[in-house]
This record gives sequence, C-alpha cells and structure tokens, in this order.
Amino acid sequence: MGAQGKEVLGVNMEKKDVKFKIFRFDPDKDEKPYFENFTVPCKEGETVLGALFEIQDRIDGSLQFRFSCRAGVCGSCGMHINGAYRLACETQVSAMAQPIRIQPMSNMPVIKDLVVDMTEFWKKYRLIEPFLKPGRIDTDKELPQTADERERLGHSINCILCGACTASCTMTMTNENYLGPAALLKAWRFVADSRDSSYVERLESVDGLDGVWRCHTIFNCQLACPKDLDPTSAIASLKRELIKKKVFGKREM
Ligand code: SF4
Ligand code: F3S
Ligand code: FES
Repeated sequence: MGAQGKEVLGVNMEKKDVKFKIFRFDPDKDEKPYFENFTVPCKEGETVLGALFEIQDRIDGSLQFRFSCRAGVCGSCGMHINGAYRLACETQVSAMAQPIRIQPMSNMPVIKDLVVDMTEFWKKYRLIEPFLKPGRIDTDKELPQTADERERLGHSINCILCGACTASCTMTMTNENYLGPAALLKAWRFVADSRDSSYVERLESVDGLDGVWRCHTIFNCQLACPKDLDPTSAIASLKRELIKKKVFGKREM
C-alpha cells in the first residue's frame, strides 16, 4: 500500500483531485492559444508549482513553465493564477477556487505555454544600470549607512524581478519604450541609496516620456506585486526628486 491515505510526519498524504484550466500555446504548431483542462491529485499543502510538476511528470510532459528556487526568491515562476499575478511556488492549491485558471504573464510574447520572452524586460532593467556606484576605488572597505539612510530604501531592495508589475502596467502595454515599473523601482532604490554617487545621472536617465513621466499612476503594478512592493510610490518619489532638482538645481536628499 502506498502513502495515499496515510499521515507522514504530521502531514496528511491523502490526495484529492483538483481541477486546473491551463493556457497552452506552441507557436510552432498551434494556430492560436487555447485552455486545456487537467485533473491533478494534490496532497495537503501542495503548491500550484507542485501541481504543474505533477502534470509534467505524470500527465503531459510537454507542458512548459519556468521555475528555479521553489522558495519565492528567484521570481521565475510568476504567472497569472485565478485573476492575479502570483508566484506559483508560493500559491497553495487549497487557497484557490477551482478550476484553477493559469495564464502566462501579459505584455510579453509567449515562447511556449506559461513561458514568456522577457528580453525587453531585462533590456530595460539593464538600462538603469542596476548596481551600486560607490564613486570611490577602495571598495574593499565597508560603506556603512545610518538607520535613517537604510530606512529610505524601504522594501524596494526586496524586488525579485518576477515581472508581474510590468506585465500588469497599461502604459507598458501601450508604449514599448516605457522603462516600466520594475526598472523604475530599481532606479529609485539606487537614487535613494546614500552610498551611491550617481544621483544626478540616475535621475537624468529616468527623465523624459519613456521614463517616469509615462507613468499615469495607474497602480496596477502595486496591486500585482506578489512581494507587496510599491513601484507606484517609487516612481512618484523619482518624479519628486526630478522636480526638486529642476527647481533647486541641487540634491535635496
Ligand atoms: Fe515582481 Fe514586485 Fe519586483 Fe515588480 S516590483 S518585478 S512585481 S517583485
Ligand atoms: Fe504603470 Fe504602475 Fe505607473 S501600473 S502607469 S507603472 S503606477
Ligand atoms: Fe523561484 Fe517561485 S521558483 S520564486
């Protein structure tokens, strides 16, 4: 007799059938995307990512999706699950209404099934030069911050680059050159960093109609973020800094 129906280390191993409706598309052979229904036996505590593995291992090996850490850290498994952007590895099957409807990120071309092409996302991310520029060469020494200086960065450093904010942003959808909320949140993270020496250059790089001024404060990015980050406020802060710089001509932070 298998583990089914037993308790192992306090976890009920009994499996229950869960219904899924999953976006499928293979551009090499499908004329258009479609949804496929699956019934997956899931144990207590199963995540959506675990269920996708179950499908891939036992039902249809051709189903494609991204993952890496399986711990909510790498951002690879971001997808649209039951009407919201979520991390599949952090989403409990039992918390979702059935059938659990899974789609890939919007605003990005589908490579296959739930895997999207994030080339443009990474291109924009690189444009804001997402690394600390300390402006001194003795970088083997520590660059201490006061508690207040650290406080200014807030939670912006917790971005895992899953792309959900950019996928949900209407302005990204309609303006292919817009830097988008993920890149701008990161830009703010370095503008606000007391250890960074490129305050002026960084602000200039996000000025203009493809930068912060393209944001119409729609808030979709804030609602979409599975890490509860706030790109909307970060973009507003960048706008505020730019205005201060234009009016006072000097760093105000
Ligand atoms: Fe993902 Fe949130 Fe970072 Fe956007 S801000 S990339 S939604 S973690
Ligand atoms: Fe887009 Fe977020 Fe601005 S959804 S328009 S980046 S507030
Ligand atoms: Fe890394 Fe889900 S697999 S965040």
